[in-house]
Amino acid sequence: MAADVASDLLWSRLSELIARKTGLHFPVERYSDLRRGLVGASAEFGFADVDAFVDWLLSARLSRIQLHTLAGHLTVGETYFFRDKNTFAALSGHVLPQLIERRRNERRLRLWSAACCTGEEAYSLAILLQQCLPDWRDWRITLLATDISERFLEKARAAAYGDWSFRDAPSGFKSRYFTANAEGRYTPLPQIRQMVRFEQMNLVEDSVATLVPEANAMDLILCRNVLMYFTSSQQTHVVDSLYRTLSEESWLIVAASEGSRSLLPRFTPVTFPGAIFYRKGGEQAADTLAYDSLLVEATRFTAPPSPPPLPAPSVAPSVASPEPVVAKAIIDEPDALSLEARALADQGRLAPALELCDRWIAADPLDSAGRYLRAVILEELGEREQSRRALMHAVYLQADFVLAHFALGNLARGDGKAEESRKHLQNALALLGSCAPDDVLPHSDGLTAGRLKEILTSLLAQPTAS
Ligand SMILES: C[S@@+](CC[C@H](N)C(=O)[O-])C[C@H]1O[C@@H](n2cnc3c(N)ncnc32)[C@H](O)[C@@H]1O
Repeated sequence: MAADVASDLLWSRLSELIARKTGLHFPVERYSDLRRGLVGASAEFGFADVDAFVDWLLSARLSRIQLHTLAGHLTVGETYFFRDKNTFAALSGHVLPQLIERRRNERRLRLWSAACCTGEEAYSLAILLQQCLPDWRDWRITLLATDISERFLEKARAAAYGDWSFRDAPSGFKSRYFTANAEGRYTPLPQIRQMVRFEQMNLVEDSVATLVPEANAMDLILCRNVLMYFTSSQQTHVVDSLYRTLSEESWLIVAASEGSRSLLPRFTPVTFPGAIFYRKGGEQAADTLAYDSLLVEATRFTAPPSPPPLPAPSVAPSVASPEPVVAKAIIDEPDALSLEARALADQGRLAPALELCDRWIAADPLDSAGRYLRAVILEELGEREQSRRALMHAVYLQADFVLAHFALGNLARGDGKAEESRKHLQNALALLGSCAPDDVLPHSDGLTAGRLKEILTSLLAQPTAS
């Protein structure tokens, strides 16, 4: 009995210490979770016995690194790309376009994925941003991603994800923005990886000002699925410091189960279908939309199609936006039309992109690239036969259009036409014969001849393609 009381006291002291140092909340009913985490941590700290480890924890003065290591064992590393599709639909349909408009003069954006875990959230944001901002290369963009756990951050930096991380990702997302390695893991394209900066940070104890100098000027913070693990006083403390970190008229996003008026009293809640975001600043600025009154269509996220889909040019996954596309006055000049069509396609605005493509083709009927982009968009819209016809037109106009042959092979393969597929894929492979491995294929958004050769060789070796 006395031993039980002593043990309870010990665990309650430990739980209090952990809450104070990391924010992580372990009430009595979660002591078994705490013990499970400590078993893993004790091994990493070199203890054979968890009780000895607990004694040591209560008497030691933990360094920052030790604290982070401990926290890494006590937290849940559950995350995936595009977790909560409503949140990402509202981001791409409203919040990012609006932030971009506001910052267009200075060409500067600052985004933060706080408690980023293994990086999926931050990379999803990078991809969305590149879709919404075709000229992102001309902007100064800070996309900071932080977590307390160095173990998770190492995985985020290594960026090699298994299929499970893509379980709720939009159709075509993986094939378009990732390359596969030999072990069947997927890494974001360099342009995506380079955009994200991973840093270790304890939300409860550290200040983001040590990581970015302009720490009071964030435009958007995602801090999702972490506040729920904190004690209520630590939640308030963290939310207060996030508030100070945001610039006026900027946004905080927490998970649906975490947001409440009592926790976020200084923010204005703004409702989107299936998601509530929190805006710093009570009054909506004149340049912003009347969000509450907008009807947002359900996002059309679908399971990824059978591999391999069209590699390029990139067409954003169909994240439906309720915002009417602002018609721009474009004279029917093929170059302008092609640029605009690609930009819209990159943003996932497929219907207007298709319309511009048709105008581009009408303005320059001999340009095979217009047919190819049209085919990519049509395929994305599920119009496979029309897509096939557009591709046939492209290779008719330009017989050595490697990507169009490849796309035809993929379409036929998806339709179960193995022989036809093999023929197109062989054509593509033969055409690559004259290319150097590092040659970037036209209209491909960075795909090299060497990489496509590998893909084609592997497809042609598969029985399904024969
Ligand atoms: C469930 S994951 C959330 C990942 C991502 N935000 C999402 O919603 O998918 C929780 C993350 O919070 C991190 N975490 C826990 N306590 C933290 C703290 N005090 N400071 C920073 N990160 C913390 C954990 O290491 C873990 O990676």
